[in-house]
This record gives sequence, C-alpha cells and structure tokens, in this order.
Amino acid sequence: MREWADVDAYLEQLFPPDDVLLGANRAAHEAGLPAIQVSAAQGRLLTLLAQVHGACRVLEFGTLAGYSTICLARGLTGARHVTTLEIDPAHAAVAVRNVEAAGLADVVDVRVGPAAETAARLVEERVEPFDLVFVDADKPSNVRYLELSLELTRPGAVIVVDNVVRGGAIVRPPFDDRAEGARAVLERVAGDPALMATAIQTVGDKGYDGFLLVRRLP
Ligand code: SAH
Ligand code: DHB
Ligand code: MG
Repeated sequence: MREWADVDAYLEQLFPPDDVLLGANRAAHEAGLPAIQVSAAQGRLLTLLAQVHGACRVLEFGTLAGYSTICLARGLTGARHVTTLEIDPAHAAVAVRNVEAAGLADVVDVRVGPAAETAARLVEERVEPFDLVFVDADKPSNVRYLELSLELTRPGAVIVVDNVVRGGAIVRPPFDDRAEGARAVLERVAGDPALMATAIQTVGDKGYDGFLLVRRLP
C-alpha cells in the first residue's frame, strides 16, 4: 500500500541509514543482488534489539549483502562477534566487502555454504553460545534453523525470525512452501513452554510481512 511506503519514507528521513548502510545497498544493487534485505526501520530494530538485550555474540542465517549483519553488529557490546551463514558465494563476496567498508571485518565471520550444514559444523566445533539469532534464509528450513539455534544458544537468548507473515499468505490456503515454512516455525514456537514468543506484523516499503520474536526462558 502506498501509504505504508510513504510512512517508511518519512521515518527513514527522521532515522536515516548512514553512508555505510546506503553504500551496502548500493553495492548490492550494482552486483545485481535482489533487494530483499530488511528495511531501514527494521534494520534499526535489529540494532536496538541487540542493544537492549546487551548481546555480545550474534548468529545470522541468510547474509545477502550484509545489511542486517551490519545492523546487528552495530548493536553489540563487549567481545562483539557475528557469524553469518550464506549459501551463495556471490552474495557472501558482496557482504564481505560491505562489512569491511563498515569497519567490522574483525567482528563478522561470513561462512559460505548451506546454513543447515554450516550451522551443524558450529555445533560440532562447540563454539561459544550466541546471545541473539536472526533467521532470514530459505523459509522452508525455518524449523531446522530454529532447532539449530536452540543448540547454539543458552536460556536467555533471543531468536528473531523474518518474513513470518508474507503479505498474509500464512492465513490464506493453499500455502506455498514459504508460507508453510512461516506457519511451521510459528507453530513450533507456540507449543514450547521453554520459549516466550510473539509475532509482530510489519508494513512499510518492503510490503506487509512480520517478525517472530522468541526468548528462551532463563
Ligand atoms: N538478512 C539479509 C537478507 C537475507 S535474504 C538482510 O536483511 O540484509 C536471504 C539470503 O539467504 C539470500 O542471500 C540467500 O542466498 C540465502 N540463502 C538461501 N538459502 C540458503 C541456505 N540454504 N543456506 C544459507 N543461506 C541461504
Ligand atoms: C525473500 C526473502 C527474504 O528474506 C525477505 O526478507 C523477503 C523476500 C524472498 O526469498 O523472496
Ligand atoms: Mg527476510
């Protein structure tokens, strides 16, 4: 809807992305990547969530050009670290350049490969647990990524899943595999007494969609 995009434009003018984030989107566009990164307002929410949670270590499924990666990294305190998982080497290459331009090369580790495999390797490596996870890769794998996130975090951790509303497709059968992926992760989380969760619907220049917000109860 036109009004949603107009409101996002107004909010973006009030809370503008800086030159680094604008440059990241420009580099993604020039490399021919799809413009499916989080919006400026959503990116700021990721930064804020990392800040209010006092997060130090972040895991991300689905890097694209690193826009959300940079937003997450910017919200961290202490021994800042982001591991971000990306299947497409061309996307990862743009992300590495964008992360370097953001001055975050020492903070961000981009791992190339199918996220189910690279995340399973992190479990094998017994990496230090993550405080915050952003799940934003292939939607049919959402439940798999949630389970891997539970293996890679401790109680108290926060998990955010993108694209769980899909323009309302999650309540309009027949469901495509992406809507099924969104419904599956919502239903997986809803049934678990160890998790506190809600979902928020989002509208803006990226259309009508939503975030699932989950906290592992301490
Ligand atoms: N989080 C990014 C957007 C990610 S778009 C941002 O907001 O800036 C989704 C990304 O997931 C794409 O780059 C796509 O290549 C990647 N992806 C798709 N399937 C994947 C898989 N199986 N493993 C890892 N990454 C995958
Ligand atoms: C798609 C993926 C995303 O992560 C997103 O935010 C929007 C669209 C997609 O695959 O179409
Ligand atoms: Mg997304």
